[in-house]
Amino acid sequence: MTMTAAAPIRTFKLRQGRLRPRHREALHRLWPAYGVAVDGRPIDPAELFGRPVPLVLEIGTGMGEGTAAQAAADPDRGYLAVEVHTPGVANLLVLAADQRLTNLRIAHGDALELIRNRIPPASLAAIHAFFPDPWPKTRHHKRRLFQPAHVALLRSRLVPGGTLHTATDWPGYATAIRDVLAADPELVNPHHGFAPAGTGRPQTRYERRARAAGRPVFELVCHRR
Ligand SMILES: C[S@@+](CC[C@H](N)C(=O)[O-])C[C@H]1O[C@@H](n2cnc3c(N)ncnc32)[C@H](O)[C@@H]1O
Repeated sequence: MTMTAAAPIRTFKLRQGRLRPRHREALHRLWPAYGVAVDGRPIDPAELFGRPVPLVLEIGTGMGEGTAAQAAADPDRGYLAVEVHTPGVANLLVLAADQRLTNLRIAHGDALELIRNRIPPASLAAIHAFFPDPWPKTRHHKRRLFQPAHVALLRSRLVPGGTLHTATDWPGYATAIRDVLAADPELVNPHHGFAPAGTGRPQTRYERRARAAGRPVFELVCHRR
């Protein structure tokens, strides 16, 4: 009998669908300038951006409007965005090029693989994960980004004092994230719970829809000791 390794439990479900011609063209044209592979050598921000900048990792950018706005508003830091959904990657490439952003790079794939493969320990100024997929069914909780093992991995990549910042509109996930972060002895939460919603970041597309539907937003900001 041959033994095969179990497939990893992913935090996303890949959506099928045709890529718009505009997005296909953008991937082809802009990937060489902005694209970063999820596997390869450890990432050096000075090499990536041509200057030594504090590095911010943004996980799950969706269509990327919030990411582009944040990078534009914070030119002294380098932003590495990672998204698994191809149209989102393509859309963010277009936004980066249209806005001539020099402090943004984009990886296409699983953020957890990128982190394990290419992000050295204690190297990130911040990790942003805004409106991570909530996986509301109990049997799907194992797919959530914010669970103890993933949080330990994320935290290990932050520099001392580095920031882990997330937000969600799912009350059950919000309290679960709050509790997982509080249980990590290497993280401190200056707000001792939720931060004011929208703290220090532009609104995202997902958030706009949540607010329009009347759902509250729960914000969490922690720092590595
Ligand atoms: C609910 S959406 C939120 C998108 C965006 N942050 C916003 O607020 O509009 C979550 C996104 O995370 C992406 N995602 C989930 N797990 C991921 C992973 N492990 N690596 C990269 N992207 C991931 C999904 O493809 C999806 O686009």
